Amino acid sequence: MGRGVSVTAQDGAVPDSLVVVSNREPYSHERDDDGEIRVQSAAGGLTSALDPVMQSRGGTWVAWGSGDADMAVADEGIVEVPPSDPTYDLKRVPLSDAAVQGYYYGYANQVLWPLCHEDTGRMWAEPAYWEQYRAVNEQFAEAVDTVADAGQPVWFQDYHLALTPRLLRERRRDATLLQFWHIPWPAPSVFRHCPHSDALLDGLLACDVIGFHTAAYAEQFLHCVDSAFSAATIDTDSGTVIRGGDRTRVVANPLGIDVGGVRDRARAADVASIRETVLGGSRSDVSIRLALGVERLDYSKGIPERIEALGHLWDRRPDLRGEFTYVQKASRTREGIAAYRRYRADVLDAVERVNDRFGTDDWQPIVYTEANLDNETLAGLYRAAEVAVVTPHRDGMNLVAHEYPAACVDGDGSLVLSELAGAATHLDGALTVNPHDINAIADAIERALELDEAETRDRLSRLQHGVEALDSSQWVARQFSAGQSL
Ligand code: F6P
Repeated sequence: MGRGVSVTAQDGAVPDSLVVVSNREPYSHERDDDGEIRVQSAAGGLTSALDPVMQSRGGTWVAWGSGDADMAVADEGIVEVPPSDPTYDLKRVPLSDAAVQGYYYGYANQVLWPLCHEDTGRMWAEPAYWEQYRAVNEQFAEAVDTVADAGQPVWFQDYHLALTPRLLRERRRDATLLQFWHIPWPAPSVFRHCPHSDALLDGLLACDVIGFHTAAYAEQFLHCVDSAFSAATIDTDSGTVIRGGDRTRVVANPLGIDVGGVRDRARAADVASIRETVLGGSRSDVSIRLALGVERLDYSKGIPERIEALGHLWDRRPDLRGEFTYVQKASRTREGIAAYRRYRADVLDAVERVNDRFGTDDWQPIVYTEANLDNETLAGLYRAAEVAVVTPHRDGMNLVAHEYPAACVDGDGSLVLSELAGAATHLDGALTVNPHDINAIADAIERALELDEAETRDRLSRLQHGVEALDSSQWVARQFSAGQSL
């Protein structure tokens, strides 16, 4: 099987108006304790890449209406956004509690998430999850069908809606359908663990274009199609699959960040006060060197191994005790699933063990925070850190690996990066590690702290170059350009 196909953005590829479909909505309405309705904008790579495009082009974004006041402010599920200066429609799909349990906490996050992260031991394919997943995908197809104008391309995001393209195609033969899969795509030997693997592939192949972060994921997808459907014709040079009446182009289209935005926020940050706020109650000198990890508390992120590695490092290098503090910024996530609750408990235990063992009256080895940091504070924290440690077992891309170098506006900063994150295939200059190799992680953090200035600057400038090359501004155009040559 051949190589994954990459694409370049062509002028005029982005349509004048489009429909975006995702599980998460870009804006939610929530009722606070006083009964006041407040708007929250979503954080994360998907929204920051697509919201500007929707604002400039217009159209409709279809998503799960997860906010508790979402439907109260909408008219037939539709609300104009951004609320301060509306430019496009948000169509909210209301989901029952049972649907959320089966579709989101069940199939999406206990079957597809572990499957695609090649962690099949965590899969739990309860039959009701699949039923709910199918029903919600149908509900989304209906919602899109009611809002999409003829000729408006429809762009599906992520793993929550793999069946919706086929369900929509059955209603709209000639629609232009696109998909971007934000998480890894597994090897065929792993994908085979899924009891619904053929149905998932069939759903996705209703799209004209399917994008992945890396050529390796695109290739693995083509391998899966090849082994599932003997009647499919696959042209590996162009990444095209022909099957029945479908013709699908499968491409690598890496999503990066808004580099200028992160850089500007880092430049504007009051680094000293951010350090003080984060380290404030920690008994650590506010001028101490910082290493940093930023992630959701997801079992794919490799946090316990990293904490263990820090313990090894402080054990064998007593001179590094009191020399640097590791800040773990963590966000609680998917806590309706027992594995996520257990993971958080394991991380907290690991942090406590290391702090009990090495902490002193003047120094706290690990500062752990679940505080909600706004983008400005986060950019300042990146800038304050000399080392960022990003060691997921598996990660579609990992945008922290992009944000950190972009925020290092003083020309210093080193990145320890898992070789199994999508970012590692695109970024040069990081100290790469196997995320399960505790000694290697310890060695890499040690090395990062001891690199000389010239090497630090050289590595950082290579990283920044790679991050700039993948700036999110070109991502949308590349996806639509892939469809033009079909
Ligand atoms: O990485 C996949 C992803 O779905 C992202 O798009 C999203 O930011 C993240 O996981 C958070 O997941 P959830 O929507 O389940 O909170």
